[in-house]
Amino acid sequence: KAKARFSWVCADCGHSDGQWWGTCRECNAVGTLKRFSEGGSAEVSEGKTWLSRKAGESRPMRLTDVNRGINQLNWRIPLHGPFGNEVSRVLGGGIVPGSLVLVGGDPGVGKSTLLLQIAAMIAERNDLGQPAPVVYVSGEESVEQIGNRADRLSIGADELFLYSNTEIEDILGKSQPLSPRVIIVDSIQTVYLEGVAGSAGGPAQVKECTSALLRFAKKTNIPILLIGHVTKSGDLAGPHVLEHIVDVVLYMEGEKYSSYRLLRSLKNRFGSTDELGVFEMSQSGLQAVSNPSEMFLSDQYSDSEYLAGLAVAVIMDGSRTFLIEVQALCASGSIASRQVNGIQASRADMIISVLMKQTGLKLQENAIFLNVVSGVKLSETAGDLAVAAAICSSFLEFPIPNNIAFIGEVGLGGELRTVPRMEKRVNTVAKLGYKMCIVPTSAEKSLGSHGFEGMEIIGCRNLKEVINTVF
Ligand code: TYD
Ligand code: MG
Repeated sequence: KAKARFSWVCADCGHSDGQWWGTCRECNAVGTLKRFSEGGSAEVSEGKTWLSRKAGESRPMRLTDVNRGINQLNWRIPLHGPFGNEVSRVLGGGIVPGSLVLVGGDPGVGKSTLLLQIAAMIAERNDLGQPAPVVYVSGEESVEQIGNRADRLSIGADELFLYSNTEIEDILGKSQPLSPRVIIVDSIQTVYLEGVAGSAGGPAQVKECTSALLRFAKKTNIPILLIGHVTKSGDLAGPHVLEHIVDVVLYMEGEKYSSYRLLRSLKNRFGSTDELGVFEMSQSGLQAVSNPSEMFLSDQYSDSEYLAGLAVAVIMDGSRTFLIEVQALCASGSIASRQVNGIQASRADMIISVLMKQTGLKLQENAIFLNVVSGVKLSETAGDLAVAAAICSSFLEFPIPNNIAFIGEVGLGGELRTVPRMEKRVNTVAKLGYKMCIVPTSAEKSLGSHGFEGMEIIGCRNLKEVINTVF
């Protein structure tokens, strides 16, 4: 019988070492290293090899053999329909067999809903049009609770199995005989591994459970989608090694009072991290947003009656382009003050000062309010010009027609600077039927030769030129 091997795991950060040190070499905490038998060796029996750290029958392989295997393998599990396409894109084209995917997000943002919908989609039909078994394991809810939610979501997939348990060995042992296409584990903070010290959710448990899930996924080629909670400070709860162990980290976010949910990929061993999925939480679950470029524009914006103080900015998030509505209100006669919402206050101050100094607008006796519609944060300098235009529009009480968009960074001299990916931004604006796009002169030249569906592109050197052109 093989001699039991031990490792030393830091109770603070989960770092594991081959030998004992007085100080954790990862996080420098003192006296936190605790001894564990590797992979809970006492419990490991012959059949449960994924729980062991030993490599087993695996050995180095020829690249050409590996590639032959890859081609035969159904490389990615595709997801269909508008919702499936949106998820698939963030994953880099579908779920990779044998991968471990972590989905993080604030409590209540909709992680369980998202994964239940993905589970149902795969259980209803696979790429061949036939249903495949999927196991949805929850350590947080009873099968009745999950069943209730599935009912609300009108999910009736025959091949969807629900299981409420928290013990990893039992979960994997009972799931594997079903040969599931995918296993969902909700959540990493509630599961535990027998033989590993600490309570569920603790650093050692989180680390060892994730490692066991990864070994299982790699060994069986069954992908596992894992839910992870986020702490108040915005980090994934548990040790940072969690993010290093898994193949893919997705992050779900949403504003408290908005029904929009964004799914981002922060890490992806199989694709780009420059992707963003946009969903809306409805009565019947998450739905893909068909035209996300326009989702941050307010309703009054599409009215024929124009309001003064509104301007449209074009910003990028991942590979997505969004049109964002900036609102300004300049109120004279009241106490000069500034209220800014959704824009960095120092940036707004700078733009206001540049407008006063370089265009001669008498803004100093005004209370100025700035707001970005839908609770979005305007963090790109590409939105500077729209902020300036909205302020001018309100101050001059001149409504900007709702078919003009503004792209550009404003410099201290009032000059307009170009921003990355101009062509992509301008293209989106044109596709949405806008008639005019104001851009920096330097960008106009590079855009000049392309056709933009009849949209007029106007290059301006500085804010003065913008005012002369638009107002
Ligand atoms: P949930 O998936 O439980 O969030 P998480 O697992 O991230 O904690 O979703 C929580 C919220 O979603 C809950 O407040 C109710 C809302 N919701 C809907 O609005 N529509 C729906 O169809 C469902 C299932 C949930
Ligand atoms: Mg949940």
